[in-house]
Amino acid sequence: MRVVLKNPLDMHLHLRDNEMLQKVAPFSARFFSGALIMPNLVPPVTTKERLLGYKARIADAIGAESFEPYMTLFFKESYDYDFLSDIKNEILAVKLYPAGVTTNSEAGVKGVDIRRLGPVFEAMSDLGIPLCVHGESEGFVMDREAEFIPVYEKLAKSFPKLKIVMEHITTKEAVEALERYENLYATITLHHLYITLDDLAGGLLRPHLFCKPIAKRPEDRMALRRAAFSAHPKVMFGSDSAPHPREKKEAPGCAAGVYTAPVALPALAQLFEEAGVLDNLQKFVSDNAKVVYGVNPPKKEVVLIKEPYRVEREYCGVVPMFAGESLKWRVADVI
Ligand code: NCD
Ligand code: ZN
Repeated sequence: MRVVLKNPLDMHLHLRDNEMLQKVAPFSARFFSGALIMPNLVPPVTTKERLLGYKARIADAIGAESFEPYMTLFFKESYDYDFLSDIKNEILAVKLYPAGVTTNSEAGVKGVDIRRLGPVFEAMSDLGIPLCVHGESEGFVMDREAEFIPVYEKLAKSFPKLKIVMEHITTKEAVEALERYENLYATITLHHLYITLDDLAGGLLRPHLFCKPIAKRPEDRMALRRAAFSAHPKVMFGSDSAPHPREKKEAPGCAAGVYTAPVALPALAQLFEEAGVLDNLQKFVSDNAKVVYGVNPPKKEVVLIKEPYRVEREYCGVVPMFAGESLKWRVADVI
């Protein structure tokens, strides 16, 4: 059995910078036509100079592969219309992090207060710049995403022309919110389609599955699967592949993030085939994002075949999801 994926897109990717960027970028660039690059560097990507510098370093790290790094800017409440208008052609979206909710988000916003931040959202809406959001409250870890839904609703209602992407959704509440507002969209990761909290902490602790937002309950995973498997047009694949060195994961104070870029497409093919919906994978990993973001990525065809594939234990010091395990699909060719 085989499937050919045309122009796969990863609409939520952490490529990091410098040495780590050099290590991980080739894996995304090989298998994907493009990706939405997250801006949570230290310091974050908040100026045109930093953005263009980062884009150039990404271009250097991907070398000759045809791969489009769609850039994002780290949301600051100080952005004004002129700044956003000037940078608009260099970015695909602006990413908002509430301060402190995840890796390198300390420079994020303190409270998503619509009145305070309204002028920035207004400017983005006028300029047609989508807003990507890490939607978690400061509450109990399992409730953070559900508690954030009213913020999404308020945003969606107050700025009906602003495209709002609920990033890496993990709950049935978020899936349900998609239906209530035309301008709400979502990305779903590979790991949240596979795991629940049980896989992370139900037996021995598995630090390489620890991420933000944390994996939730079986009924939440079921809702995510239903949305992805049906190729819901407002749902896009965003791996949230977030590499951390092994020693930062296998440590007290384990860093949040799951590294999935090298295994994403085989693992998705396996999951979609097992659910009997392999035909819908194309929409989930590319077509939906092309429509939502209006992008036309470089041509690439990834041929996947149903043959066992043993996942590496480590990629340059980073442990991937499924390390050392066998997946049922592998990439046979990239054209
Ligand atoms: C991400 C990272 O490491 O940058 N971590 C994570 O757990 N997902 C940040 C993020 O997307 O939350
Ligand atoms: Zn992320």
